[in-house]
Amino acid sequence: MKYMVLPFGCQMNRSDTGRIRTILNSMGFEESEFEDDPDLAIKGIIACSIRQKAVDRVYGKIRNWNASKGKILTFLSGCFLPADGEKFEELFDLVFPIDMVSSLPEMIRAKTGDMSNAVLSDKPSGKSASGDLMTKERLENFWELRPVYSSKAEAFIPIQNGCNKFCTFCAVPYTRGREVSRLSTGILDELRSLIGKNYRSITLLGQNVNSYGLDKGDLELNFVELMKSIGKIGRETGKNFWTYFTSPHPRDMSGELLEVIAEYDVLAKQIHLPLQSGDDEVLYRMNRNYSLADYRRMVYAIRHTLPEATLFTDIIVGFCGETETQFERTLEAMKEFRFDMAYIAKYSPRPGATSERWRDDIRREVKERRFTEASEVLRETASRKNRKLLAKKQRVLLCGEDERKDYSFGYTEGRIPVRLSLNTDTAKSPGKDIGNRTKVGEFAMVQIISTGSLSVEGRVL
Ligand code: SAH
Ligand code: SF4
Ligand code: F3S
Repeated sequence: MKYMVLPFGCQMNRSDTGRIRTILNSMGFEESEFEDDPDLAIKGIIACSIRQKAVDRVYGKIRNWNASKGKILTFLSGCFLPADGEKFEELFDLVFPIDMVSSLPEMIRAKTGDMSNAVLSDKPSGKSASGDLMTKERLENFWELRPVYSSKAEAFIPIQNGCNKFCTFCAVPYTRGREVSRLSTGILDELRSLIGKNYRSITLLGQNVNSYGLDKGDLELNFVELMKSIGKIGRETGKNFWTYFTSPHPRDMSGELLEVIAEYDVLAKQIHLPLQSGDDEVLYRMNRNYSLADYRRMVYAIRHTLPEATLFTDIIVGFCGETETQFERTLEAMKEFRFDMAYIAKYSPRPGATSERWRDDIRREVKERRFTEASEVLRETASRKNRKLLAKKQRVLLCGEDERKDYSFGYTEGRIPVRLSLNTDTAKSPGKDIGNRTKVGEFAMVQIISTGSLSVEGRVL
């Protein structure tokens, strides 16, 4: 019997999915990637609630599944708001918070009777648990499950869950609860095991990754100390890898962290620092607790301590009451900070978040236009920065094949995507065997032969 599980959200949801796979595999199920696989007995979704679009996708998918469901058991977990949870309980057989995944075998048995006879009942009768909030104890057990990693090149380590910051637009504090940090011993063990298997890219994950440890006070390392420990493991083992972290909050970024990143080779020179808006009044209404001047100071510190680092950000356009002038300040800030990458989102109200009570007064067409304008600024700044890579040699981590057959892809330490040409004759294309899957997960020296706005092209040396 087989299962499939679809993560709809960010890297955290994808990382959670690895732990769900472990549980389902331990029950003797086999993973399938095909929704119409006749052997499928279980289908699951790991939901995201950051924007309404992601929630609508869940409704679309489950209605579609239910229309031709047969004897398949469906479940939903991940990030969902309490209001959606109740509706999802009517549509899915099982709805549960992600940290309850260790109880999935019992929940499945309660719904289906004995799974070993391969027959699922038409009317499951187990109890769903969407109302339960995540608890510290369950999270700690959940984190210690060994996940099934989906890539040979990159792996994600959850180090922290939840958020105490309550930005007025955001659903996360209501879907993931308050901040809980994982024990550093578990994090470092998982890291050691991954680098032992030669993983080259490791990303530490948390909704507020750099407030790691604050909930535990003196009993736990803080984020800077955790990064330092990873740097030291890199030195002791002599292993080559890049360590990333996402998403940090500007309020908890420190000069000390930048210095530690500068000190150790295994701490990647790439910083993701969400700006959201370039206007102080909007930042205030978003409850971000920093001003544009504070953010600017941080960018100066990054450029000073980590001159080679790339800088990524998150931007929201069309937040409640955002005037044209305020939006233009965001564009100006994007030009000033010359981001290498920006994840730009059109504001959408989230049930339960503070801004839901404010008028979502920016018309859809205006949000659309602002999105396009911000994307154009990103393309300009990023193309200019990528152009500096032309003809340079870069170390690239090979991650897999491009949809177009004759390309393989990877990325630089700064996480700039690199496409590698494979299709010319052998003499002209020394990287011909890069498409060979055995090479995925290895570093290669690459010469950059052309550059675009969001990626570059290279040839393996
Ligand atoms: N903790 C991170 C953000 C995590 S959520 C931080 O503090 O910045 C990921 C991104 O989703 C946010 O940075 C924001 O740009 C976007 N986002 C969150 N809520 C949103 C909403 N209601 N509408 C549109 N975009 C939103
Ligand atoms: Fe959401 Fe703000 Fe927390 Fe980030 S810091 S997860 S945007 S509430
Ligand atoms: Fe979405 Fe949850 Fe990530 S709401 S963005 S999947 S933390």
